[in-house]
Amino acid sequence: MKKINLIILFSGNGSNMQNIAEFFHKKKFIGIIQNETFSIQISACITNNPLAYGITRCKELKIPCHVLPHTDFSNREEFDKALIKYIQPYHPKLVVLAGFMRILSPIFVCTFRTLNIHPSLLPKHKGASAIKDSFMSDDTNGGVSVHFVDDNLDSGQIILQEPIPKIPNESLEDFAQRIHHLEYDLYPRAILKVLELSYPKTALMST
Ligand code: GRF
Repeated sequence: MKKINLIILFSGNGSNMQNIAEFFHKKKFIGIIQNETFSIQISACITNNPLAYGITRCKELKIPCHVLPHTDFSNREEFDKALIKYIQPYHPKLVVLAGFMRILSPIFVCTFRTLNIHPSLLPKHKGASAIKDSFMSDDTNGGVSVHFVDDNLDSGQIILQEPIPKIPNESLEDFAQRIHHLEYDLYPRAILKVLELSYPKTALMST
């Protein structure tokens, strides 16, 4: 069975990172184009925030986590070059951003195929307060988008996108919770789509 390595970058809570790690753990996947079998491993995580709760999650999941504070670098390019050095030895097929609160420079996005998840129906509500902005808007739907990363904020080609209808009188907290549940469903599916893999539900690995 061939192994596919992924690297996940996060800056905070890390719930999407944990969900992805748990989703792919000990499962086998079938190539859609060639009928080969693959396992998917989260080789390591990297965070730019030494206080991120995701670090604790990594310890519990037994995933190596590198802490690389962006404040140690004089500019974006230097930080991104250091990130590349950390990531390259793992030879990842994809770099997965899961709440990574940094814009990546062209040098990074030209080196790795990189995905991001955003809690709105892009191109609507880009930026860090997307859930609140979408909640406060006149839109009838909120939603979640997974997209390829380029060197602009929350742009890049959409891979998967799903709406959720707004519910009259719902609180922001409940709306945010429904958004996060949709994220946990959508991100693993988007990763499989990019990797051109399918997941037969019976294909749990025995070891
Ligand atoms: C998610 O809402 C994601 O869409 C956005 O940042 C949040 C990260 O949450 N990019 P978590 O750290 O995965 O819990």
